[in-house]
Amino acid sequence: MLTLNINGESHAVDVSEDMPLLWVLRDVVGLTGTKFGCGISMCGACTVHVDGEPVRSCVTPVAAVAGKRIVTIEALEHDPVGNRVQEAWRELDVVQCGYCQSGQIMSATALLRTNQKPSDADIDAAMTGNLCRCGTYARIRAAIKLAGTRVTSV
Ligand code: FES
Ligand code: FES
Repeated sequence: MLTLNINGESHAVDVSEDMPLLWVLRDVVGLTGTKFGCGISMCGACTVHVDGEPVRSCVTPVAAVAGKRIVTIEALEHDPVGNRVQEAWRELDVVQCGYCQSGQIMSATALLRTNQKPSDADIDAAMTGNLCRCGTYARIRAAIKLAGTRVTSV
């Protein structure tokens, strides 16, 4: 039995220690906002925050995050930076099919926590592991910059 802190709540889960965090989030805890894309850390669809850092949950054994602060897209609206990111995403109509977007938003939020005025190169470096089959990259970049102008006033 492992105890996980997910979105500020404690969850006791009876799973094997090497089960990927993504499986636990979706299939055991029922938080399906985090998506499965590749399963091998290549697409970013499964990105969540662990102690504030973006992590690929598909390749993270659940035992490695026991006792750490896990945040998923479901709770991001309560994060002052995440809230601004979601607001900018809506305003610029970033989403197309939506499948990659929870991962994109988690990575963008982590970037803006440390850098509110990211250059194109900064954005490329932070977001390079988040793929979008619909090609929303230009709108993602614009939304990150817009959100950054608002994060400073949080
Ligand atoms: S599903 Fe985790 S990186 Fe693709
Ligand atoms: S919006 Fe469709 S994969 Fe990114």
